[in-house]
Amino acid sequence: PLVSPAEMFKKAYSGGYAVGAFNVNNMEIIQGIMSAGEEERAPLILQVSAGARKYAGQDYIIKLMEAAVARTDLPVALHLDHGQDYTICKEVIEAGFTSVMIDGSHLPYEENIKVTKAVVECAHDKGVWVEGELGVLAGVEDEVRAEKTIYTDPDQAVEFVQRTGCDSLAIAIGTSHGAYKFKQGSNPTLDFERLEKIGKLLPGYPIVLHGASSVPQEFVDMANKYGGKIGSAVGVPEELLRKAASMAVCKINIDTDIRLAMTAIIRKHFAEKPEDFDPRSYLKPAREAVKQMVQRKMRNVLGCSGKA
Ligand code: G3H
Ligand code: 13P
Ligand code: ZN
Repeated sequence: PLVSPAEMFKKAYSGGYAVGAFNVNNMEIIQGIMSAGEEERAPLILQVSAGARKYAGQDYIIKLMEAAVARTDLPVALHLDHGQDYTICKEVIEAGFTSVMIDGSHLPYEENIKVTKAVVECAHDKGVWVEGELGVLAGVEDEVRAEKTIYTDPDQAVEFVQRTGCDSLAIAIGTSHGAYKFKQGSNPTLDFERLEKIGKLLPGYPIVLHGASSVPQEFVDMANKYGGKIGSAVGVPEELLRKAASMAVCKINIDTDIRLAMTAIIRKHFAEKPEDFDPRSYLKPAREAVKQMVQRKMRNVLGCSGKA
């Protein structure tokens, strides 16, 4: 059934695991995620970015997700990823999403508070969950680019949550969006001390981790072997994410790894079967690759298998 993330996060917090929030753009991605969830018996969050909404059209993407929800007995939340303003949040709330992110992280602090608070008022009227963000992730996010991480200040996080009333908070502890998170040969780390401090100051409060793809080397290699040029891509090691999931982090966002898996498999298919031109023949293995990647996340990173 379609659910609010409230119950999911409560269980995840006390159970020491996280729920996966997977970005969806088309039917095959949604189907791949759903079959992974079914096989693992895991709760799911399907999330739609502004880019996904534009690509598919809000009506199409909602109908696809509704079809997925109607077919399953798993708890599924429908979430807006990186809502950039009040208007987009209001639109998807009216369309039936059960959760929205208002991302005011690039705004001055007081403006972030103001817009987040406004979205909370509108969302809570309809029983919709609100994720806010404080701190800035390095890398590209919907055309906004930050060179460096601005780590979330724990005391400010408490004030932000109190003043806005947001239900969960995305924080910056060293992850970033996309495939190029850390330099090759460097030792990727996350600021666990900061996470621990935030967890202590906000007991029981669900924290969200964006930019949490691991960029598995075998998929980079596969894509590159078959003509790709994905350079020195390095993600967040799986064991660091697993540790975060055992702490206050209840939602982990994954997009890049799904993109990588689909692209690598499609490239391989084209290289091995150049005579093929039926889209089903390469979208089917791509859908299977999404499923396997999501299952891998559930087992190695989230710890949510068997929790639904
Ligand atoms: O945080 C960004 C997500 O990976 C969504 O990416 O804006 O290209 O759809 P997108
Ligand atoms: P990745 O780019 O690491 O997959 O992060 C996705 C994300 O945070 C979506 O909001
Ligand atoms: Zn994100």
